[in-house]
Amino acid sequence: MKTPITGPAVRMRRLRRNAAVRRLFAETTVELRNLVMPYFIVPGSGTLRETSTNSGLWQSSADKIADEVAPLVDAGVGGVMLFGVPDDKCDDGSKLEAQLGPTRAATEVLRKRFPELVLFADVCLCSFTSHGHCGVVHDGVIVNDESLALLAKMAVLLGSWGIDFVSPSDMMDGRVAAIRGALDEARLVDVGVLSYAVKMASAFYGPFRDAAHSAPQFGDRKSYQMPAGNRREARREWQLDVAEGADALLVKPALTNLDVIRDVREQSDLPIFAYQVSGERAVLVAAAERGLIDFARAMEETLLSIRRAGADVIVSYEARPRAMAARAR
Ligand code: PBG
Repeated sequence: MKTPITGPAVRMRRLRRNAAVRRLFAETTVELRNLVMPYFIVPGSGTLRETSTNSGLWQSSADKIADEVAPLVDAGVGGVMLFGVPDDKCDDGSKLEAQLGPTRAATEVLRKRFPELVLFADVCLCSFTSHGHCGVVHDGVIVNDESLALLAKMAVLLGSWGIDFVSPSDMMDGRVAAIRGALDEARLVDVGVLSYAVKMASAFYGPFRDAAHSAPQFGDRKSYQMPAGNRREARREWQLDVAEGADALLVKPALTNLDVIRDVREQSDLPIFAYQVSGERAVLVAAAERGLIDFARAMEETLLSIRRAGADVIVSYEARPRAMAARAR
């Protein structure tokens, strides 16, 4: 008779024995189809540049965007999100259509070359106005209801040019209803709304504001973006957007809001996006440059955590390097 050996009856390490076993039991993965790549569309021609080495933020003129995106499409990227960055600013919306010219050209060229590429476009005023706020400003105040008309106009223009999902990131009250109503009135019933439902006033947007020329020229965004500590208020925000007709919800920044992502996942059946914002990437790049962490492993870990929290899709500047790496293999 064998003497029973002593030791733990349950051994978790059986599931971690080697790479093949770990791969078999992986609960969460990050695939290219889960990632959406942002691009900053600038006026003129012949421009394709990363704002600084490894910032991950790419500015492209309309003539360069299709060749730029081709390898991403080839590798199976989930989609592309366009941010218009006009040179000339205008505070009353009268030049909106002209300001959006490059975005229109980019949209049309992408739509033509890649009929099934999922196209998102940001809807917000901060890159379009001289003051850099996300809504209309009168006497230093960001005026809610007047902003809605401009946001809705922007959404209709983008939808009419071939954008699949307009993505309001302005955080004005009632914008989802205003945009949905305007799209329907324009018979753009198939254009969806991906709402930046929970967007915190965050220190992690810095590099983006350089790339998008969108830094506020006075004050800050705290009268419209959310306070980072408020979980219940976050629930009210996304529930409102659901009621107003959002097709999908976005939470940002991602890594500082994993609990909020989890809340939305458990309480809503809408698709959930999380935006791994410019500063989240910058933190990893800077730490890796100082030799403190391994960038690739740290990046994978953050993306996995965001997916594990419940995000279906991650808007991330890592989509491009991942696609390039996948193609090189
Ligand atoms: C602006 C907008 C911002 C981001 C997306 N849309 C910046 C802001 O609110 O100032 C941030 C994205 C990033 O940092 O990568 N409406």
